[in-house]
Amino acid sequence: MSERNDGGAILWAQETMDLGRERPSGRETLQEEVSSTGCERGDVMVQATDVTKIYVTGPAEILVLDRLHLTVRRGEFIAIVGASGAGKSTLLNLLGGLDRPTGGRVLVQGFDISKLGEVDLARFRNQMVGFIFQFHHLLPEFTALENVMMPLLIRGVRRSTAAERARATLEAVGLGSRIRHRPAELSGGEQQRVALARALVGAPRLLLADEPTGNLDRRTGEKMFALLQQLHESNGLTSVIATHNERLAARCDRVLRLENGQLSETPR
Ligand SMILES: Nc1ncnc2c1ncn2[C@@H]1O[C@H](COP(=O)(O)OP(=O)(O)OP(=O)(O)O)[C@@H](O)[C@H]1O
Ligand SMILES: [Mg+2]
Repeated sequence: MSERNDGGAILWAQETMDLGRERPSGRETLQEEVSSTGCERGDVMVQATDVTKIYVTGPAEILVLDRLHLTVRRGEFIAIVGASGAGKSTLLNLLGGLDRPTGGRVLVQGFDISKLGEVDLARFRNQMVGFIFQFHHLLPEFTALENVMMPLLIRGVRRSTAAERARATLEAVGLGSRIRHRPAELSGGEQQRVALARALVGAPRLLLADEPTGNLDRRTGEKMFALLQQLHESNGLTSVIATHNERLAARCDRVLRLENGQLSETPR
């Protein structure tokens, strides 16, 4: 498994500063801003068109995504499968605004995120997207409760309200009795559930989960997946999940295979 997509997680942890600034429009949330632009809010949640991603490392260029197309409808639960190194994490990072494509466009709710400046992109991530990272990236010195509160504090929600919502979300993932534990005092499956709570606490529209069952044993992985499905339904989410687990992928609405930089639908 590649650990090279950590840039997104670091960016996530650093965005407090950006989010502290005032919006020039005076509107409080990006959702309001999106609505106010009057852009189309059809049935489509994510539309990636001609998306190319090239990584440049010294003299070497790696073409990871090659004019890729993807349409995700509102409410869908989609699996992205593909070999290690195929570009699954790269794709999720682009959909979640954690990285920018080399070419092409990514629209979320009809809103072109490729055109957002850094401040608006940070707001987009904070308010519209719940992201579960491949290596969960919980902050080790903070408790489960504090980790889950973080996206709300970044957003400027009062501490007491943030704590209340974080506690309720931890209860929803079955961790009400572990809120004072630090990540190192939790099992791998529990850490993933804290990461899920952190992704969902801000009521995002889009959930992007990168190998949410990757480091779990079969039974714990099944439980995590069932929890994802349940919360997907109850929270009215649109979810895109990268996974190596073909058995779990087959339980999603659609399975897309990433190969040679492009996606193809696998027959059911
Ligand atoms: N920041 C980066 N700089 C340069 N190359 C990168 C970077 N991030 C990823 N890559 C390369 O891009 C390719 C795709 O990586 P990515 O992490 O998206 O694959 P993946 O499908 O998620 O793999 P895995 O299943 O192992 O998680 C790999 O060859 C990787 O080495
Ligand atoms: Mg990956």
